[in-house]
Amino acid sequence: MPSVVRESTGPNGHTPPRAGSGCVPATRTGEGSLDVRADFPIFARRFDGRPLIYLDSGATSQKPAVVIDTVGEHLRAHNANVHRGVYALAREADAAYDGARRRVAELVGTEPRTTIFTKNVTEAINLVAYAWGRSNVGPGDAVLITQLEHHANIVPWQMLCRERGAMLRYLAVDARGELSLEQLDAELARGDVRLVAFSHVSNVLGTIVPVAEMTARIRAAGAVSLVDGAQAVPHMPVDVGALGADFYAWTGHKALGPTGIGVLHGRAELLEGMEPFMTGGDMIASVDFQSATWNELPYKFEAGTPPIAEAVGLGAAVEYLSALGMDRVRAHERALTAYMLERLAEVPGLRVVGPPEAERRGGLASFTIEGIHPHDIAELADRGGVCIRAGHHCAQPLMRRLGVGATARASVGVYNEPSDIDALVDALLAGREVFGLKP
Ligand SMILES: Cc1ncc(COP(=O)(O)O)c(C=O)c1O
Repeated sequence: MPSVVRESTGPNGHTPPRAGSGCVPATRTGEGSLDVRADFPIFARRFDGRPLIYLDSGATSQKPAVVIDTVGEHLRAHNANVHRGVYALAREADAAYDGARRRVAELVGTEPRTTIFTKNVTEAINLVAYAWGRSNVGPGDAVLITQLEHHANIVPWQMLCRERGAMLRYLAVDARGELSLEQLDAELARGDVRLVAFSHVSNVLGTIVPVAEMTARIRAAGAVSLVDGAQAVPHMPVDVGALGADFYAWTGHKALGPTGIGVLHGRAELLEGMEPFMTGGDMIASVDFQSATWNELPYKFEAGTPPIAEAVGLGAAVEYLSALGMDRVRAHERALTAYMLERLAEVPGLRVVGPPEAERRGGLASFTIEGIHPHDIAELADRGGVCIRAGHHCAQPLMRRLGVGATARASVGVYNEPSDIDALVDALLAGREVFGLKP
């Protein structure tokens, strides 16, 4: 593998298609590796003359030109409010918004009717905690989550349990960063669990959680499952139906889409039986002086003017990902992750948390280096021109379980190349010298 940072090629003159047409990635290489960096205009930037080396896709992804231009084109030429105008421009806006929902549902093998647009995955989880949780969880019940959750999949359940007099219990993370199906069985056997909420892929450990095995057990026990797919949908094939999740939530900005748009997929019977989360325009069928009735799915859960341009941008993003092929995205990122694990092992004192095998994890590695604080690690990486994240990654209970205050985290996306990992490792090795640590 090359040990020098390869110059970013920058935009390749790729002409983005207009909204609604095919979003074909500019370049493709052989099986298992992608060469699409030229589709992402941000990589034309220089920082003190150096290219952008972005290893923070776990926080948010960079955006291909087709997404940026589709959003711009929508605002320039197709902008109107949705589901209320009878004129031609409004019909175009309706078609763009509804078309985006269709594409998003297709990406994960589900139906537009049960695909709800939210602001982000955090709002999607809160929607379930409020609209399902407040009517289905009561005193003596339990909600089960895991020690590897992001705060977005902890705090809504803490609030629900506190308000409803229910108990919040946790599945433990073992030394490899994995969950135990035996513990899940034991918890479910207690007979009080109403809902189990867990991540598909941990944003800290990288662990790929065995979703289908878990949802089968949860369904058999008469409980409901919610899966936080924020770190899964952008990186691997996801089929919500095959996974058997009752609720599956994810966030657009990590999946090459704009910020301000998230997605909740839900089982139709559950969504139909739920009260609305928020109320106001668009989620209404009729309003009288004292009462109101609700619109049909999915609009019942989309109060007020929705994030229209953001949804249209997400539609372009999923079309771009679909054209790449999620199998190829996963193969590319798995190979990069394997290479990252191999190269990080060359840094003395560096410890990666989570499963040691690349096939057991998503495209990220969180690590500590003996003698250097994680924030200093990120700072040293920045001196080498490499963007990584440091901190608790909104997973403070997991940090406590791991016995660390923070970690550094490098995470990959479709646009990364092995030379990015080389640049990170070079920066870390140089950084050890800055800290006076032995080579
Ligand atoms: C696993 C996981 N869940 C939830 C979130 C929250 O995402 P958002 O801020 O887009 O709602 C993140 C983002 O960091 C995440 O990694």
